[in-house]
Amino acid sequence: MNVVRFGIIGCGLMGREFASAAARWCALQGMEVRPEIRAVCDSSPEAMRWFTEHFPGIALATADYRQLLERSDVDAVYVAVPHHLHQEIYGAALRAGKDLMGEKPFGIDRAANRAIQDVLRENPGRFARCSSEFPFFPAMQRIGRMIESRQFGTILEVNAGFRHSSDLDPGKPMNWKRTVAANGAYGCMGDLGMHVLHVPIRAGWEVRNVRAILTRLYDRRPGPEGRPVPCETWDNATLLCEAADPQNQAPFPLTLKTQRIAPGEKNSWSFEILGSHRSARFSTRHPNTLRFLEYGGGEQAWQRIEMGSELTFPSITGKIFETGFSDVILQMWASFLSERFSGQVPGRFAGCVTPEETARQHQILTAALESQDSASVVTLRTE
Ligand SMILES: NC(=O)c1ccc[n+]([C@@H]2O[C@H](COP(=O)([O-])OP(=O)(O)OC[C@H]3O[C@@H](n4cnc5c(N)ncnc54)[C@H](O)[C@@H]3O)[C@@H](O)[C@H]2O)c1
Repeated sequence: MNVVRFGIIGCGLMGREFASAAARWCALQGMEVRPEIRAVCDSSPEAMRWFTEHFPGIALATADYRQLLERSDVDAVYVAVPHHLHQEIYGAALRAGKDLMGEKPFGIDRAANRAIQDVLRENPGRFARCSSEFPFFPAMQRIGRMIESRQFGTILEVNAGFRHSSDLDPGKPMNWKRTVAANGAYGCMGDLGMHVLHVPIRAGWEVRNVRAILTRLYDRRPGPEGRPVPCETWDNATLLCEAADPQNQAPFPLTLKTQRIAPGEKNSWSFEILGSHRSARFSTRHPNTLRFLEYGGGEQAWQRIEMGSELTFPSITGKIFETGFSDVILQMWASFLSERFSGQVPGRFAGCVTPEETARQHQILTAALESQDSASVVTLRTE
């Protein structure tokens, strides 16, 4: 089996998810390639301890990412750091000859994203993708195949959302994701926007304009010493876009909701597409269930299919067992490594987000900020 030697820069929540997926690689079947964690980097030594305790193959644990990038026994890096560091560290990794799985939003703002795209153009041999795992749920992969084979007829409406509610608690302590300096002016959209845009952008739907309403509930939260400190970022965003299917140019409303304060929701990523021939719905609230409706005249009835483990990248897991978050993380990494190895993925929606797609995301999120500022509809230019 071919081995890709990885460095992880940023050993927090997502760094651990990747390492755990790498440790469970044996659950995948028929893979020609596997990752091996060789080096880790975090500015906090404490954050690296879990990695060095659980992965004896780690040859370097350092607080300086440059040291990690200098190593010739690291082929690729996963960089999962706060947004203000994306431009610097993604750029350095690519220039050092490493392939890259970056995190969203792939640059704190549009200027940072453009700078990363420049480095990619200067280093054309590098393979780079952006992490986004939810479309790898079996029901979403099935919906993706239906989009690919144009089973919906004329699209009437698409609604995509990602909703949390932990920020409903005013006592939730402050962290970097609630500061403009580290998270960016996009606020909740920087955290969640790529997640809701992954499928619409991959579908090729053209977003023509955006009207956005952004809101903030609490402007202070407990700081490190327990005293209130400013909480600067947008909590909730609702974007109503005019989108069009390039096949027939027919416009349809595309609603994108990214919310940190959505009462009753824990971590709900959802997607709904309504069409003249077929409609479908999926939410991680019901991770096993695909809902769909077919219309060919006569009665209309929503049906449900329990998906089990109908995984795009086959695994040893019994077909009747349900799929969860850690499974789709593993699927996303299988996609990254397969595409890097063979140049192919089994279907349009089986590929990770490309750098070009992150640029499209930035165009839409920047327009949303402008729409909020001017309380108007912002038209997107074709680039
Ligand atoms: N794909 C997803 O589902 C998902 C979920 C959460 C977060 N994210 C993204 O992952 C990235 C990281 O988020 P997280 O939740 O893992 O954050 P986190 O705060 O848990 O981890 C970030 C880590 O980066 C480290 N760090 C900070 N500065 C550093 C530096 N200069 N050099 C090395 N390490 C440094 C921190 O010490 C911390 O351990 C962000 O881009 C975020 O948007 C993605």
